[in-house]
Amino acid sequence: MSKKLSLANIHSLRKQALHHIDEDALAFSYNADRQRVLKLLNDALAAQLLCVLRYRRHYSLSKDVQLKTIAEEFLVHANEEQWHADQLAERIAQLGGEPELATEAMIITECSAQAREDESLVSMLQEDLLAERNSIANYRRLIHSVGERDYPTRRMLEGILVLEEEHADELEELLESLPEELKKDTWRGD
Ligand SMILES: [Fe+2]
Repeated sequence: MSKKLSLANIHSLRKQALHHIDEDALAFSYNADRQRVLKLLNDALAAQLLCVLRYRRHYSLSKDVQLKTIAEEFLVHANEEQWHADQLAERIAQLGGEPELATEAMIITECSAQAREDESLVSMLQEDLLAERNSIANYRRLIHSVGERDYPTRRMLEGILVLEEEHADELEELLESLPEELKKDTWRGD
């Protein structure tokens, strides 16, 4: 046997050791019901991915309208919802779970939304505001449910909640500042 280990072997052994340390640390330190938290996080992930799809659909439908700022806001929100989804998926993986990136319920919901052709800008903003308020209520419940037993998950959820509250505030302001002619349901002219 060679007395010298190659750099690649050292790197591999170090990686394996760190992996075992991580697993052991998680096993010893995790105080919450892991399966329950994973289920809650996967439910939140599904809701986030639906938000991404809804905002992207609203961006596509509104980007030709004269108020570009609203279309841009839809896109910004879509990207931030995707960021939340990424955070949730990463935490699910850290806890040893598997992020569920598409569910049957999501596909059905999104298809039925796409089937609506009479959406106005105001109805899109209202739909988004309602979804944000539901999201805020869900994250508050989730934070309460995780409680003090899983601080990293709790801190992540609290960070997401802050941004969701900002989304709701921004949508309320956009709805209030919408010009009268754009409050009509026929703004798309089709
Ligand atoms: Fe949001």
